[in-house]
Amino acid sequence: MTDIQKIAAIGGGVIGGGWVARFLLNGFDVSVYDPAPEARQRTEAMIEHGARALNKLTMIPLPKRGNLTFCDNLQDAVSDAGFIQESAPERLALKQSILKEIDHHAPSDALICSSTSGLMPTDLQKDLRHPERLMVGHPFNPVYLLPLVEICGGDLTSDQAKKTASDFYTSIGMKPLILRKEIDAFLADRIMEAYWREALWLVKDGVATVEEIDDAIRYGAGLRWAMMGTFQVYRVAGGDNGMRHFLSQFGPSLKWPWTKLMDVPDLDDDLINTIAEQSDDQANGMSIQQLEEKRDDGLVAILQALKNENWGAGNILKDYEKILYEKAVRQAQEKTVDYSKPIELHETTVNPGWVDYNGHMNESRYLQVFCDATDALFRHLGMDQEYVKAGHSIYTVETHIRHIQEVSQGKPIAVKTQLLGADEKRLRMLHILYRIDTEEVLATGEHLHVDMNASSACPFKPELKAAIDLMWTHHKKLPVPNYTGKGIRSLTG
Ligand SMILES: NC(=O)c1ccc[n+]([C@@H]2O[C@H](COP(=O)([O-])OP(=O)(O)OC[C@H]3O[C@@H](n4cnc5c(N)ncnc54)[C@H](O)[C@@H]3O)[C@@H](O)[C@H]2O)c1
Repeated sequence: MTDIQKIAAIGGGVIGGGWVARFLLNGFDVSVYDPAPEARQRTEAMIEHGARALNKLTMIPLPKRGNLTFCDNLQDAVSDAGFIQESAPERLALKQSILKEIDHHAPSDALICSSTSGLMPTDLQKDLRHPERLMVGHPFNPVYLLPLVEICGGDLTSDQAKKTASDFYTSIGMKPLILRKEIDAFLADRIMEAYWREALWLVKDGVATVEEIDDAIRYGAGLRWAMMGTFQVYRVAGGDNGMRHFLSQFGPSLKWPWTKLMDVPDLDDDLINTIAEQSDDQANGMSIQQLEEKRDDGLVAILQALKNENWGAGNILKDYEKILYEKAVRQAQEKTVDYSKPIELHETTVNPGWVDYNGHMNESRYLQVFCDATDALFRHLGMDQEYVKAGHSIYTVETHIRHIQEVSQGKPIAVKTQLLGADEKRLRMLHILYRIDTEEVLATGEHLHVDMNASSACPFKPELKAAIDLMWTHHKKLPVPNYTGKGIRSLTG
């Protein structure tokens, strides 16, 4: 895959902002150009929504966020970008002119993907100097959470460019679907639009309210769709005789006048008012942000459930976590540390999903941050997937956390780690959690770990032991804080 270091996002609305969140939270530096004055605030809010959702989604900590820059013009945003995602309004002439400008100012080998929902890439690329690197990369809202991205090339797009874009999207947790043919509106929107037309007719004809139509999907077919697409669902519905039986049983009904798919209802004032008012009733006072949070939490839960089932989008999440783990191993191993003092391997920010009703980080998250710091230490010492696959793992057998200060959402935090002891099978360590901006100590955690195989302690493997010994040789000379080695104080003494 081309080594993509920096990304430009052109357009920072609903979709552009979602892309920025996904790129940034995967550690890429991102430059944004959007002429709207409110674009920066909207994009920043989207990043926080994305952080809330992604941090709940994965078991592996996300990499350190990339740097975000807002540019005053398009040229500054794209001039050193290796990948450009265009998400401007859906107007052919506007997109053509923006893409021409991108093509002019971006490095000639930078990939350009358009988020368009339905414009043809052949039309978008026709006036470019390097049309072979342009394609559609059509995502789904919320972009930071939903894995699907449809890749559609035009007449002049190279296969190599599509492959590189596909590898890149995979590396940030997505499921790229490369279309075999260039068609209007690609695959998913064609299917969704058929459904949408039918739903509009049902409202227009007074058959059902918007809420009843949504209920007809979300309590039935919608639940199945996350697990299986229509074809697989119908295959199962055909019973032991499968798809052939299903088609012979229900095929003829396609000719009955069940649907009105070919006609489009007139979106006149009456229909618009009916839909808008019924939609207000359905929301029942919930704000868009509340609905977004509900949607995101539900999607996270579904993706995690699918992961446990080793199925569909759950497998994409599983693969993404492997990528995140390997990235974390590389980062921990590449980091130069100074063993003459406690070492720093893990830093993060207090994520929106970690705070309690007082706006402070919840107690359980202190342990989570310490666990992430422990994992970072093990990775640093050389414990990678191979070590784990060989049947070795290091378990926590005892933890003592001292909660010293509260910390609120968005604050940058980091952990310093000192070894307090090491032998053939055991590691005793001290983590000190502090705020990066004020250097205030927030908590300390003392943990005892043992290397266990088949539930009985066994010695560390030689390579890991050598790495631990090196660190311990230095750390045993460090002063040991007097609060360590103590349990919870008795109330009487
Ligand atoms: N909304 C969806 O569900 C969805 C889903 C997939 C794809 N898309 C596609 O994504 C693209 C963006 O849609 P959206 O829903 O984010 O729209 P949006 O209106 O929310 O955002 C468009 C953004 O583009 C900015 N913009 C206007 N002129 C610009 C210019 N010259 N240069 C850079 N930015 C400019 C606007 O200020 C705005 O912030 C469209 O092509 C759309 O078809 C939308």
